[in-house]
Amino acid sequence: MDETGASNQKKQKGLSRRDFLRLSWTGGVGRLIDRATGASQKAGRVSVGQVAELQRVPVGSIIDEYARSHGFYLARVPEGWLALSRTCTHQGCLVAWREDEPSEDSLESQGRFYCPVDASIYDRYGRNLRGPAPRPLDLLPIHVEGQEVWVDAKTLIRRERVVSDYPATTL
Ligand code: FES
Repeated sequence: MDETGASNQKKQKGLSRRDFLRLSWTGGVGRLIDRATGASQKAGRVSVGQVAELQRVPVGSIIDEYARSHGFYLARVPEGWLALSRTCTHQGCLVAWREDEPSEDSLESQGRFYCPVDASIYDRYGRNLRGPAPRPLDLLPIHVEGQEVWVDAKTLIRRERVVSDYPATTL
């Protein structure tokens, strides 16, 4: 199913974006828990699902289920996927995804990252737009092996500028 189809399916069932993601990711979460000490996490890498699952997620979505456990968010942008570090680039506090606040990008009308310490604000690309944060959120590498998608939760890719200086991962 393409993105339009997934979006239509969501609307037909009357699901909110959060409901859709929750349902979509039930399988992924189960797999992560089932194999918490096994193949889904190895050498600091975290399995975040199958290619087919991720391809159904609408552009503009943020997956926050790995924020607490592994310190990153997954962002679906038109260019592909970004794994965004949760660590604010100002003084290293943890940013929160606030889905009910106004959007800072053109992908959706609501949703942005917010640092509660000094009120820095980032958009879905992790771009620092307001507050004292000096640069975008760091990225984590995304790897595809066969049909499984992994994030390397131990490696940070530093971004110095607001421009997209590290491409999104396409699946
Ligand atoms: S630590 Fe995030 S704005 Fe200061």
